[in-house]
Amino acid sequence: MAFIADIGTVLRLTPQDDLQIASHDGVWDFCDDRTPFDFRVQGHLYDGQLFYGLFGPVLSGPSRYEGLICNILVRTDATDWRTETRSQVNFKVGRGVVTRDHRQHFGHPDGTRLEGFPRISRFGEVEVVGARPSTHPPTIELAGARLRPLRVVYDTDALYAYLRDPAVTELTAYPAVSVEMVDAMIRRSAIRWYAGELGKWAVALPHDDQLVGTCGFNDWSPVHRWAELAYDLAPAHWGKGLMRQAVAAALEWAFRQDLVDRVHAYVRVDNRRSQGLLECTGFVREGCLRSFRVGRGVAHDFYVYGLLRPDWAAQQGAAGGA
Ligand SMILES: CC(C)(COP(=O)(O)OP(=O)(O)OC[C@H]1O[C@@H](n2cnc3c(N)ncnc32)[C@H](O)[C@@H]1OP(=O)(O)O)[C@@H](O)C(=O)NCCC(=O)NCCS
Repeated sequence: MAFIADIGTVLRLTPQDDLQIASHDGVWDFCDDRTPFDFRVQGHLYDGQLFYGLFGPVLSGPSRYEGLICNILVRTDATDWRTETRSQVNFKVGRGVVTRDHRQHFGHPDGTRLEGFPRISRFGEVEVVGARPSTHPPTIELAGARLRPLRVVYDTDALYAYLRDPAVTELTAYPAVSVEMVDAMIRRSAIRWYAGELGKWAVALPHDDQLVGTCGFNDWSPVHRWAELAYDLAPAHWGKGLMRQAVAAALEWAFRQDLVDRVHAYVRVDNRRSQGLLECTGFVREGCLRSFRVGRGVAHDFYVYGLLRPDWAAQQGAAGGA
């Protein structure tokens, strides 16, 4: 059974009073629309050690919530969201994730702040309406890092901070990198997971959970049972075996969930570092696709690398892991 606090759970929020909608600084209105909307739990809100709420992207409901993030905050009834499937909550829906204002208790409307507009707030009831355990990305602990689901809004700055470095994208097919493009990429991945498809994880450092890379799947065919692997890492972390671990964990998860029988990756013929990574992970170079992808206006040749389930299983057997 899924609970309110489980990452990946889909929650339905039904407002129980008029909505308060702020549209500009100092301009707000009330609206009597108690139509429910759904959102997916993506992260938890902590004040030090104290859990006080959670947030995630809105998935469906009235258009006023479209493209926004829903934050729900624990009220004073002290329900434990790790064991409850329904609860009364305060909520704030807007462009991002709330931050604490310590001048008030977090249960107070001024105890949290939300930047940007619109800001839609009030109180209501949440209930668990769905979970997708089979394709929901788990958090996987690695040595010195972890794979965790990419977080809409929250991860944009960290991903942009290294993708804007030309050294990261010069040997890839990445288009010109902008904040908007990075934001859209993260949203696309979140939507893929939600739709029951395979997407990407963040590679994050365990001490602060900050993203330093991404790893996972750009594309997936459940009919033909293949997935396309993709990854990138902030240069400060290159050459430490981090992505090798991340790729091994993503492969293990996809094969063990029985979602694929083949994983492939396309690598520019001059990207030796990425080729080295695939080769040491057991991928076989299957051929060269001439002028396969255009990177910043120029068509490049790409090698295609593939790993089949029997190859992967044999490696696991050899390592004593199957
Ligand atoms: C490709 C990338 C993710 C590799 O990450 P990384 O953490 O540095 O890789 P690892 O340290 O895990 O190295 C894995 C293996 O790659 C190989 N490798 C690493 N650097 C290499 C290099 N310069 N030349 C050849 N092989 C290399 C090694 O065989 C290494 O195995 P080892 O641990 O046994 O030595 C990272 O360099 C990156 O983000 N590059 C820019 C983006 C990119 O090219 N993405 C891939 C697009 S296809």
